[in-house]
This record gives sequence, structure tokens and C-alpha cells, in this order.
Amino acid sequence: MKSEEAFIRKLDAKDVMEALSVINKSNAEAYRKIIPQKYFKEPVFTYEEFLKKFNEMIFYGYELEGKIVGVAALQFLSKCSGNVRFVYVLPEHQRKGIGTSLITHIEAEARRFGLKYLIVPYVDINANWAVNFYMKLGYKVFEKRKKPWGYDLFFKKVL
Ligand SMILES: CC(C)(COP(=O)(O)OP(=O)(O)OC[C@H]1O[C@@H](n2cnc3c(N)ncnc32)[C@H](O)[C@@H]1OP(=O)(O)O)[C@@H](O)C(=O)NCCC(=O)NCCS
Repeated sequence: MKSEEAFIRKLDAKDVMEALSVINKSNAEAYRKIIPQKYFKEPVFTYEEFLKKFNEMIFYGYELEGKIVGVAALQFLSKCSGNVRFVYVLPEHQRKGIGTSLITHIEAEARRFGLKYLIVPYVDINANWAVNFYMKLGYKVFEKRKKPWGYDLFFKKVL
């Protein structure tokens, strides 16, 4: 039997639709549970909105047997710092270490680019899965910002 092929690669223009589909599916499933209906957006990004974001940062995809099942992006903030953005794994592939692999890959890339620390902005305080995830990876909360339906946490990790 052929072994499962899994790897992380940098995404490019031809991957935009597939990456967006992972983000919209993962976001809807996770956040409809905690965001009041009034503020909940589905899909969370339109193609045009996402394309703009896609061109502002480096997107990585976790590919499993030819399909993207998880994504994460690195956005440069300065010569020595960057943001981790758009970390999404498809619901049926969560809790298998894919998110951890993506973040570990981004951290290695960030070090290669000479960055000294990474920030994860806007993590909903009620998204316990995400809060646990970043804490387990060694990120520490350094800011808490109010929003209409609660708070967002900002995490930081020195590389
Ligand atoms: C957050 C997310 C990317 C994690 O991806 P993942 O591939 O499932 O994560 P991993 O399997 O690498 O999990 C690593 C650790 O994170 C924590 N974690 C992950 N999912 C969790 C959950 N549902 N509940 C509690 N802790 C969780 C655990 O500590 C886990 O370690 P363990 O499985 O040994 O207990 C994924 O849950 C997701 O896509 N969620 C929806 C989108 C989202 O909220 N993204 C973050 C935006 S800021």
C-alpha cells in the first residue's frame, strides 16, 4: 500500500481558491459556536477580500494526498518581527498535529528570515481550542483587546 503523502509547501496563485475554502469551512465550524449571530460572517472572507490578504503575506499549506487540509501565513511586521495569521485546519483533520506542524514550519521560516519574535493577533478569548494551541506552542499573552462580543488575546513568542 502506498504511504500517505504529507508535506508543507508555500502556496501560490493557483492555490487561492483551495486555501480560501479551507479557511471558510474551518472558520464557520469553529466560530459559529462562540460568535453571536449578529457578528458572525459566513463565509468569513469573499474571494476578493482574501486575494488581497493572500498577496500581503506568505501562505503555507499542509498538503495531504494532493489536497490542502490546513493553512497558515507569515506576515512581516518589521525587520525583526512578524505576525502569524490565518491558521486553519479542516475540521475532519484537526487534532492530528497538522496545526503544530504548520506553526513549527512558520517559526523555522521566520528564523531563516532573521525574525526575532512572532505575534499571533486577535485570538478570541472564548476560542479555547486556539488559546490552548498557542499556549502549548510556547506563545504568551501580552495584550487583551475589547471587541463588541468579548475580548481578543494577542500572543507573542521569542524565537
Ligand atoms: C487551532 C487549530 C489550527 C489547531 O490545529 P490542530 O491541527 O487541530 O492542532 P494540533 O493537533 O497540532 O493540536 C496541538 C494542541 O493544541 C491544543 N488543541 C488543539 N485543538 C484543541 C481543541 N479542540 N480543544 C482543546 N485543545 C486543543 C491541544 O493542546 C493540542 O495538543 P493535544 O492534541 O496533544 O492535546 C484548529 O483547531 C483550527 O483550525 N481551529 C479553527 C480555526 C482557528 O480557530 N484558528 C486559530 C485562529 S487564531
